[in-house]
Amino acid sequence: MYSENPINYSAQKSNLKDKISSPLFSEMTFSKHSWMNFSWRKHTLNQMPRYKDADSLEKSERILRYLPGIVSYKGVQRLKEKLAYIHEYEGFALQIGDCAELFNQSSRQQIFQKMSLFSELHSMVNKIYPSNVVSMGRMAGQFAKPRSLITEDHHGTTISSYFGDIVNGLKPEDREPNSERMIIGHGVSCETVNNIKLFCHSSSNLSQTFEYAEDFFTCHEAYLLPYEQNLLRNGGQESELHPNNSSQKKYHSYTTSNADIDTKEDLVYASSAHFLWVGERTRKIADAHMAFIRHIDNPIGVKISSAVTVDEIDAIIASCNPSGEFGKLSLIFRFGKSKMAAFKKLVSEIVAKGLQNDFMWMCDPMHGNTYTASNGFKTRKVEDITDEMEMFFSILNHYNIPVSGLHLEASPLTVYECCSKNDLEFAVNDLTFFSACDPRLNQNQSIQVVLKLVELLSAQKIILNSKKLKNIV
Ligand code: PEP
Ligand code: CO
Repeated sequence: MYSENPINYSAQKSNLKDKISSPLFSEMTFSKHSWMNFSWRKHTLNQMPRYKDADSLEKSERILRYLPGIVSYKGVQRLKEKLAYIHEYEGFALQIGDCAELFNQSSRQQIFQKMSLFSELHSMVNKIYPSNVVSMGRMAGQFAKPRSLITEDHHGTTISSYFGDIVNGLKPEDREPNSERMIIGHGVSCETVNNIKLFCHSSSNLSQTFEYAEDFFTCHEAYLLPYEQNLLRNGGQESELHPNNSSQKKYHSYTTSNADIDTKEDLVYASSAHFLWVGERTRKIADAHMAFIRHIDNPIGVKISSAVTVDEIDAIIASCNPSGEFGKLSLIFRFGKSKMAAFKKLVSEIVAKGLQNDFMWMCDPMHGNTYTASNGFKTRKVEDITDEMEMFFSILNHYNIPVSGLHLEASPLTVYECCSKNDLEFAVNDLTFFSACDPRLNQNQSIQVVLKLVELLSAQKIILNSKKLKNIV
């Protein structure tokens, strides 16, 4: 729907500025804070789309600065507290959703379908860690995809690669990056957050999995930095609007070790989602994406493949979680089943350096297991996914380290994008593959993977408790 008809902003833009008289959103307020000036723009920016119209990009960025944040600072703090508990004590975090969300698949009904699946998976894990499970949907902003090749060939013509709906359209004729799509992305994300809240309050949330609206969180890859930067907001100002808001106090108790954060201006948070991560392709420590993410007050993640070194891990921790705050940093490992020997070696090096408690260990058993089937479709085998998960648990539990999270690409639709057995690979085809990017687990496959997870978590609980007991005796 949205992707087909770029809208005309000129009328909206001319009266937008007049309407925005609140000091909270004025240009003055932004420029006077040093946090708005920290600049990833000075760093190497990898895999970015090229916007031809610089004026339009500048205008879109300005409009984003005026628009309301998509998630509240209070919600971000709430997630941070929950993750801190999981990291310091016990519990589990789920990150689940599409590889690439689409603007025209974000209706209320479609969001409710996704939420029903996430709530089912959440309830399964909740049996192991009652009330200590956190669910984050890859939704309300998972619209941007990094690309190794910025162009592709289409019948002899060079066109831009598809960078996600927030940059360009999937159809070959819609491939020119258009910055106004960032404004549409903001609107669709706000609507998605509203629909998530509605779901939580509705009778569809039968089992009351997410007790109230603040119990479900959003996450996405912090890839499109012009979008992310202009949705930064000042958490201090938000709290000032609610002087009795207790989250401010709790926040300070979590950061007493961080002497740098002592003024309200420093409470800069990304309002685009509760949790943001940097992808494997853009995680070089000196580059723009890492320069951006280390400054925000949200809980954050970094995807890690087998290409990593222990020194890079050390540098990521030093940069993103210098005060060792619980729940602040998650490393999301996506090695692939065939690279788990390299993972084992890396874990031993991390332990040798004493870094194992400085971040939450999350398992993404999907992105290292993608391959092209004989009919040309990208796919993943469910067995590879469960095998990688099993090895991940076994390697970490050996060192007494709990696995704290799982990252999956899944859809409630009747898709067949991942295959369950070698001989069913041909079933991944035009009629069953609908993802705009990577292959997702369908409902049954997701349940199969989470059933395995539940088994591994039960065993992990026993292993870690018995090791604790031995240490006491
Ligand atoms: C993704 O999560 O869709 C993704 C591109 O992951 P990665 O950065 O691990 O390749
Ligand atoms: Co993906």
